[in-house]
Amino acid sequence: MSRAVVDINDLVIGYDTGTRQVRALDGVDLTVFADETLAIVGESGSGKTTLGMAAGRLLPPEAQVLGGRITVCGVEVTQADDPTLRQLRHDRLGFVFQNPTSALDPTMRISRQVALAMGGRPGSQAIAELLARAELSEPDRILHAFPHELSGGMAQRVVIAMAIARNPELLIADEPTASLDASIRARVMTTLGKLRAESAASLVILSHDLSLIARHADRVAVMYGGRIVELGPAAAVLDAPAHPYTRALLAAAAGNEEPGERLRPIPGTPPVLAGRAEACAFAPRCLFREARCEAERPEARAFAGRDVVCHRAEAVIASDAPPRQEVR
Ligand SMILES: Nc1ncnc2c1ncn2[C@@H]1O[C@H](COP(=O)(O)OP(=O)(O)O)[C@@H](O)[C@H]1O
Ligand SMILES: [Mg+2]
Repeated sequence: MSRAVVDINDLVIGYDTGTRQVRALDGVDLTVFADETLAIVGESGSGKTTLGMAAGRLLPPEAQVLGGRITVCGVEVTQADDPTLRQLRHDRLGFVFQNPTSALDPTMRISRQVALAMGGRPGSQAIAELLARAELSEPDRILHAFPHELSGGMAQRVVIAMAIARNPELLIADEPTASLDASIRARVMTTLGKLRAESAASLVILSHDLSLIARHADRVAVMYGGRIVELGPAAAVLDAPAHPYTRALLAAAAGNEEPGERLRPIPGTPPVLAGRAEACAFAPRCLFREARCEAERPEARAFAGRDVVCHRAEAVIASDAPPRQEVR
């Protein structure tokens, strides 16, 4: 078994907005191994961004860690002091967010921003080489540009170059292609995968778009209601889903959603939890539910080569496969 880069145990995170409490993570257990690509998928609101931000302790002030532990590159981030966290973020983590233009400083030339991400005083040759690694054509021209002069795809490649500048052990990409044109999403994903493989880093991709990530991930984690409901090798999870939510996501993944559009795989909406779910949070939308699902919180168990959080996994995996030909 390969080394763990991230180890999360029973993580519970809430947001206190003054008027109400939202439980965004309801007990997440997750290990990310060295040299793997893990995709975390789920509808908007399932807790993906909260989980990704928690790894760098980048959560907004209204977020509260209510329980659990999260260890990243050996650092317990919920306990670490500020210098340790700064060093972790600067040297060992790389983040890529949905919107590249908000990640770049509009008043600064690209060369200067990339140089800051690299640290020290890199020459323009080194900066251009880094941009070329992120598969930007004409890196010498881009060096002198301001962010508004770049297309969305070029800007996201600059952000990716900045994220890998210090050879991080872990790259976290949160909806990295959601703001980009459909025609270039797959190519940006391919670049991310190539860079990850070159450096043997771990890549965690957070996305609502199952069709996009399916080809790029070694393992897939499916999130619903602030929990990981199914986690396993991509082939096992996508070819024979054991959780009804995974099954519904696969059936809905046509791969042609508009940027930012929310998946509506099945009638109903994801829950907004005020406290710990004492039953299956998916039960109200589930075609497989029985009385137990509405009475008893399912816990993770090993089943059919993956971990699944479902009382009915045996029935789900035995049911007719969802249409997935558009996905793989
Ligand atoms: N700053 C915040 N204040 C209050 N609630 C929040 C905040 N950020 C996220 N939430 C809520 O937490 C839940 C999980 O959100 P998020 O982590 O953004 O999920 P995802 O990235 O999967 O869309 C949602 O119900 C969302 O509305
Ligand atoms: Mg999000």
